[in-house]
Amino acid sequence: MRPSVDRSFAAAQDAVDPALVPKRILYTGAAMPAIGLGTFGSDRVSADEIAEAVKGAISVGYRHLDCASVYGNEHRIGAALRELFHCGLRRQDLWVTSKLWNDKHAEDDVIASCRQSLTDLQLDYLDAYLVHWPFPNFHPPGCSVESRSPDARPYIHDNFLKTWRQMENLVDLGLVRHIGTSNTTIPKLRLLLRDARIKPAVNEMELHPHFQQPELFEFVGAQGIAPIGYSPVGSPNRPGRDRTPLDTVDIEDPVIAGIAQRVGVHPAVACIKWAVQRGQAPIPQSTNRGNYLANLRGVVAGPLTGEDMCAIAGIDRNCRLIKGQVFLWKDNQTWEDLWDLNGAISQ
Ligand SMILES: NC(=O)c1ccc[n+]([C@@H]2O[C@H](COP(=O)([O-])OP(=O)(O)OC[C@H]3O[C@@H](n4cnc5c(N)ncnc54)[C@H](OP(=O)(O)O)[C@@H]3O)[C@@H](O)[C@H]2O)c1
Repeated sequence: MRPSVDRSFAAAQDAVDPALVPKRILYTGAAMPAIGLGTFGSDRVSADEIAEAVKGAISVGYRHLDCASVYGNEHRIGAALRELFHCGLRRQDLWVTSKLWNDKHAEDDVIASCRQSLTDLQLDYLDAYLVHWPFPNFHPPGCSVESRSPDARPYIHDNFLKTWRQMENLVDLGLVRHIGTSNTTIPKLRLLLRDARIKPAVNEMELHPHFQQPELFEFVGAQGIAPIGYSPVGSPNRPGRDRTPLDTVDIEDPVIAGIAQRVGVHPAVACIKWAVQRGQAPIPQSTNRGNYLANLRGVVAGPLTGEDMCAIAGIDRNCRLIKGQVFLWKDNQTWEDLWDLNGAISQ
């Protein structure tokens, strides 16, 4: 067991008090901070820069980190966390999520993969461990969106359930406090809710003003599953391979820009305020201290008006940015096949 130090953590002078940050109460009664720091550096941001941002973000009041083994930086984040624990941060004051990557769905791989994340993060337990995608389809990091794995398969519920049983075992073993899904549609969640012994506590899904996913958002809420929103400012710096000519830009939307100007914040902060007020837990990524602090401050500052919230509800463009093409399993498919748009699981 790593000791939790019984000294108050030395926060930055301009820090936000973590106690003021809204919480999402999960079905277990646990409180998850309603904003987290994203840690996916993609091609642009190194593991060391992400680790530095983690230290900075915690010093300004963040207490929720969204990690994943595939981001390739958990070992650096772990080193940063160790420093913070030595400076008095207490493990129980932090919410850490990690995720099982697609090449580790096999029954024998789930627990080992979680243990590896724990080792890398230098933690004894995770607050949440998610299945990153419901497909076991693997692709090398940074590959072209046209690339396909010859072993790729559609969603097979019996196989997913075997993975999920191991996720449940992680809870029994005390390695993980909550398990959850990510990039999972309503038809797949229905099957999982029917068959799970331990139901998902969270579903991580793309959510921003131009992609509000109202049906899935309402579904998970009705099932007592908390929605965590990724790419909450519309991932403005994502790599070129993840862009298409039809993609829209949330932070350039006149409604977002107008609200931001009136409130006196960057449009990204307006997106974050909307997200928290709507009821999701956004996990914006930033390595810029001014930006991640502004995002956190935006969450504890006065709310958007009801008119603002209605205006943003009206600008949904159904514009999915993270399309997931590389996980397709057949030729001549389009990315829409990953998302069960007609209400049935695509085969
Ligand atoms: N479960 C999944 O499959 C999945 C998929 C994608 C992402 N995620 C998670 O979600 C996190 C966030 O998603 P994302 O990185 O795609 O997109 P995002 O958070 O919407 O956008 C990140 C970008 O926004 C900029 N930004 C953030 N706050 C800003 C502010 N106040 N003013 C100006 N610019 C700002 C950042 O630049 P600066 O660094 O310059 O501030 C960064 O380049 C990821 O890091 C990852 O943890 C999960």
